[in-house]
Amino acid sequence: MYATEEPLAVRVRTHRLYTQPKIDFPAWVLDHVPWRGDETVLDIGCGSGAYVEPACQRLTRGGRLLAGDLSWGMLRDLASKPTPPPLSLFNGDAMRLPLPDGGCDVVLANHMLYHVPHIEAAVAEVHRVLQPGGYLVAATNARDSMQRFITEVEEACRALGHPMKIPPSPARVRFTLENGWPFLRTLFPNVEQDVLASALVFPEAAPAVAYVDSLRHAYEPRLPDELEWQALIGQVERQIRAQTGSPRDEGREREEEREEEREEEREGEYRVAKTSGVFIAQKTLTPASALEA
Ligand SMILES: C[S@@+](CC[C@H](N)C(=O)[O-])C[C@H]1O[C@@H](n2cnc3c(N)ncnc32)[C@H](O)[C@@H]1O
Repeated sequence: MYATEEPLAVRVRTHRLYTQPKIDFPAWVLDHVPWRGDETVLDIGCGSGAYVEPACQRLTRGGRLLAGDLSWGMLRDLASKPTPPPLSLFNGDAMRLPLPDGGCDVVLANHMLYHVPHIEAAVAEVHRVLQPGGYLVAATNARDSMQRFITEVEEACRALGHPMKIPPSPARVRFTLENGWPFLRTLFPNVEQDVLASALVFPEAAPAVAYVDSLRHAYEPRLPDELEWQALIGQVERQIRAQTGSPRDEGREREEEREEEREEEREGEYRVAKTSGVFIAQKTLTPASALEA
């Protein structure tokens, strides 16, 4: 799923280009930390490096960034880009971090805890490597975020003769804005959350279709064997084209069926509501470190 950065990079780019209101999500997330500039920061599950640049910009007084990922492919792609000097990359598992106790001031675990087989083990590792007073920053989505893409895929299945409800992928349900609290509260008594409601607004079909296509690894295992991915994505494309004002012939019928829904939208826009947010958990200060602080 994360063998190379391409599918993830498509999604990161889509969020950057098509989110309304326009917001720099990584910057928004990082602004929840009271930065000094000299921190040692761990970005675990760094992926295609969405947080690398903005984190390094905040390390103005000699701080450093350790970016780790389980996937060698991700790290290889990230290493091939020009990266800022306070960055070093490593291959590692969030459940067994190759770092000493108390070595980090901030740990970023963004949009990744829902992939980890034992979330509790990863949170315990983060707690171990944080200094007292340090922060865990864990961005994730609300459970129903971007539900419209799923509805679109379900409609395509129905149109192709395979009506079905697509069960939610583990990533949608294991660590969400709604159910993430207990994973963190066991070790971090101080947990706060901030939520950001926005939408992906597509003026044309192609980038919306590319987004769904980038999730092939997540959808395909849950589809009937007889249903070819290329046929499905072709149908999704026809449906979205019909809603963005550039229907192909066969899109006409769908256009009419969707009329009611479209009344709520501006002509030609394909709008996907999303809710993301961030947990900020602070490691308790020991009496000694509280005195020093
Ligand atoms: C959705 S991406 C998030 C990337 C980045 N943090 C962001 O927010 O753009 C999830 C990343 O977590 C990585 N990952 C999954 N399980 C992991 C684990 N147990 N330890 C470390 N990284 C892991 C994947 O390889 C992938 O790069």
